[in-house]
Amino acid sequence: MPAFTLNGNSTTLDLPDDMPLLWAIRDVAGLTGTKFGCGIAQCGACTVHVDGAPVRSCVTPLSAVAGKKVVTIEAIEQDPVGQRVQAAWREIDVVQCGYCQSGQVMSATALLHDKPNPSDADIDTAMAGNICRCGTYSRIRAAIKIAAAKPTSQEPRS
Ligand code: FES
Ligand code: FES
Repeated sequence: MPAFTLNGNSTTLDLPDDMPLLWAIRDVAGLTGTKFGCGIAQCGACTVHVDGAPVRSCVTPLSAVAGKKVVTIEAIEQDPVGQRVQAAWREIDVVQCGYCQSGQVMSATALLHDKPNPSDADIDTAMAGNICRCGTYSRIRAAIKIAAAKPTSQEPRS
């Protein structure tokens, strides 16, 4: 019965320790913005942040997030960097079908926290595990660059 913080709220779920975090997020907490794609850590659709790091929730057991902070796409606008990423996504209409996009935004936000001015190689490395069957890759890269160029003056660049 792991306790963790989900989008800022303390959460104790009466669930098996080995249940994938994705199941708890979608089927128990009802947060369906995080998607199931492959279930084997190969597509990135299920990406969430655990203590700020991008994590594939489909292969992360609940026991691995005990005491940690989990953030999903539903709360990413509370993060100034996430807000900036989503604004850039909208600015150039990155999304096609949308299925992969919450995972893309979570990975891009984690990248910009880690590297505020990422190179093309940094972007390729950070985003390599996020598959888009609609092929939005060039717009994703452009949106990350837009987001990197627009930190607000109040925003810490860490
Ligand atoms: S559903 Fe988790 S990586 Fe594909
Ligand atoms: S926008 Fe359709 S899978 Fe990426």
